[in-house]
Amino acid sequence: MTISVKYDSTAAKKVWGDYDPSAVIEKMLAARTELFADVDLFNSGGDVPPKKQPLDAGFIEWPQKLLFEYQADQENSLVGQIIDAAEMLQEEVDRVVFLGIGGSYMGARACFEALCHPHHNEMPADYRDGVPRISFQGHNVDNDATAGALEMLEILGDDPAQFDDRWALVPISKSGGTLETAVAFRLFREALEDFYGEDSDEATEFVIPVTGESGKLRDLADEAEYPVTFPIPDGIGGRFSVLTAVGLLPAAIMGLDIVKMLEGAAAMTRKFKSGQPGDNPVFDYTVVCKAFEDDFNMPIRLLSTWGLRMEAFGFWNDQLLSESLGKDERGATPLTVVNTRDLHSRGQQHQEGQRDKLITNLIIERPQTDVVQIPESDRDQDNLNRFAGKTMSEVMSAAIQGTNQAYADENRPTTDLIVPELDEGTLGELFQFFMLSTVLEGRYMGVNPYGQPGVEAYKNNMTRILES
Ligand code: PA5
Repeated sequence: MTISVKYDSTAAKKVWGDYDPSAVIEKMLAARTELFADVDLFNSGGDVPPKKQPLDAGFIEWPQKLLFEYQADQENSLVGQIIDAAEMLQEEVDRVVFLGIGGSYMGARACFEALCHPHHNEMPADYRDGVPRISFQGHNVDNDATAGALEMLEILGDDPAQFDDRWALVPISKSGGTLETAVAFRLFREALEDFYGEDSDEATEFVIPVTGESGKLRDLADEAEYPVTFPIPDGIGGRFSVLTAVGLLPAAIMGLDIVKMLEGAAAMTRKFKSGQPGDNPVFDYTVVCKAFEDDFNMPIRLLSTWGLRMEAFGFWNDQLLSESLGKDERGATPLTVVNTRDLHSRGQQHQEGQRDKLITNLIIERPQTDVVQIPESDRDQDNLNRFAGKTMSEVMSAAIQGTNQAYADENRPTTDLIVPELDEGTLGELFQFFMLSTVLEGRYMGVNPYGQPGVEAYKNNMTRILES
């Protein structure tokens, strides 16, 4: 499989003028070599030097590893087991509540928004192709959101014999000790046990934890004897875990083709490993980002998504970059915008504000659904008959071109990440694209992209305050 995602930096390079990026390219090539040396070290199980710890390079070859396993033994492979569990839930329940935060949440949400029907949860069962309604909880300690979700589950049904009333719970936490997820699990587990009966089979069968090999959630799962649990492997950090059971189980429950997603990711890794500068989207993107950040003083990295499907993906990427490289008082600041919506809120600043931003347009070329056209109308007071027959995609395309032109006229850099069609394969490519780029950039900067020591400070304070 070859990759479909393309990267075009022609417009941004016009802003470069005489600037020569060859020093950045040379250093980036060395960073790529280091990154794959990390993979070899990780695979060898050898001693990791202190400055490289933690070394969570497991995500890089993981998609291909899962595919090999699946090809060798479909049923017993991890992918086969995930598909089985997903099919069981699809047959048995009408709603699945996922609990998790950060890397244990954002990738699944990105899959849902990118590839499921925009009104999935409102659609009747027949239109959902057997896919349960999907809820995400446990990503906050918001009283009203939690109370509202528990109330919704209670009001929507109280009869476990009715398919429409039945629901399941998937708590996801690698450490198993994250307070937000743990509190939510306790609350929603009680609600589930009240609904099915504490000693019922369903009270255990319809809870599928995804967690690390040890930790509080693992202990709880063992004690409760949940028949199915999925592991999160050591050596793959939270925000790099979307293509483990963390994201794959939710995606499979959503009815998505996870094999295709893994194939897209594996193809992106191959391309990154062997592609030459100029023909290597991950590499080229990272060079352009770094050049603008370091040599043009543009530390704000804007991912401009066109259309609503990729907002959650953008938030997933915001976390990836922030937690990975926001260290040692360094690291670019990621920002997701959704256009054309945000042209009416942030657009002014991007056109005329500080010259500190590199804009990457994330463009999906073909829509996933039937083409919507502007209709002719007898009442033309809105003056839209001049556009009658134009499709929404044509209007979007005009917006993209018009905005890029407006930025170019002001010498503001934009690049395009082009996705011919959004599906499981291209989403897999995009996940791996940004994960690889983040790690590459970390090695380039001399910042360890793995681990997130800064997140501990608030957690420790919060626990101390709660315990006092
Ligand atoms: O990238 C990370 O490691 C974090 O964002 C974690 O995913 C997040 O803190 C949730 O952790 P856990 O999965 O252990 O509950």
